[in-house]
Amino acid sequence: MKLLVTGGAGFIGSNFVHYALENTTHDIITLDALTYAGSRSNLEGTLDSDSHRFVEGDIRNRDLVDDLVEDVDAIVNFAAESHVDRSIDTAEPFVSTNIQGTQTLLDSARSHDIERFVQISTDEVYGEVLDGVFSETDRLNPRNPYAATKAGADLIARSYYTTYDLPVLITRSSNNYGPRQHPEKLIPKFITNAAKDEALPVYGDGSNIREWTYVEDNCRGIDFVLEKGVPGEVYNIGSGVELSNLEVTEQILAATGSSESLIEFVEDRPGHDQRYALETTKITDLGWEPKWEFDEGLAETVEFYLD
Ligand SMILES: NC(=O)c1ccc[n+]([C@@H]2O[C@H](COP(=O)([O-])OP(=O)(O)OC[C@H]3O[C@@H](n4cnc5c(N)ncnc54)[C@H](O)[C@@H]3O)[C@@H](O)[C@H]2O)c1
Repeated sequence: MKLLVTGGAGFIGSNFVHYALENTTHDIITLDALTYAGSRSNLEGTLDSDSHRFVEGDIRNRDLVDDLVEDVDAIVNFAAESHVDRSIDTAEPFVSTNIQGTQTLLDSARSHDIERFVQISTDEVYGEVLDGVFSETDRLNPRNPYAATKAGADLIARSYYTTYDLPVLITRSSNNYGPRQHPEKLIPKFITNAAKDEALPVYGDGSNIREWTYVEDNCRGIDFVLEKGVPGEVYNIGSGVELSNLEVTEQILAATGSSESLIEFVEDRPGHDQRYALETTKITDLGWEPKWEFDEGLAETVEFYLD
């Protein structure tokens, strides 16, 4: 398939481009605005491939998007403002890129008879869950501006399926970790701080729980949905690996050979969701399953950042 991969110079998008070029026959055009979160270096090793073209540009630029969509069969939309803390400081770029940007891509897809439109979403759209797990039919209850804009994007994407029959598929994955993530996020930040013998700032008492999925497992899941998913459907992607932030911190300290004295508890994030957890039988019943154990994925990630 010929794909337009937006946000492909960011964390998950670049891992997807590497994964797809190594494991599938897709030809890829990557479109990325190279915000603070994106970097050409994330695509190192793919830029001279005959199957890959990189275009620097914005998903909100309809003319540019139309030019690129003309040449592809499918769109995989990773492009987003993705950091919750930044959305708490200012929501404007989140609304603009995550909602309006998605709408621009959907409009372009609609006018070009695109075969598949995969919208990359997140478990955060469901809000927090103290017990049990979220399934795809659960009510959306986003609790921070980032999550709210991702929920908005999900809803507008689904509305293009019901209204215009656009073949939209949505993936909602749990927290990802792995190589090429911006060091503002918890795992890379704590690995790099530990390596420099600097404090690891843990929000609140560190009891907030996240489900951690190795990025390659998510990329395989996204490609799986692209190939085998049913248009109009939503697919959760998770690992079942639930860890508190404090447990993740302790594992990073052990993996980097650092002292627990580096842990520093800091004021909690406002409205910090306590726990996310996903029901994933819809995608596992179709044949996808996670392959990476947390300690193996963390070892790969630590090696990447220490390099
Ligand atoms: N990181 C996670 O744990 C996680 C979990 C679930 C879902 N997601 C979703 O996956 C997607 C990718 O997340 P990520 O962690 O790789 O994010 P990221 O911040 O690392 O990458 C986002 C990329 O989008 C690009 N971008 C931003 N605005 C753009 C615009 N207007 N036009 C074109 N490109 C633009 C950035 O330059 C960057 O390369 C996001 O949609 C996010 O909501 C992330």
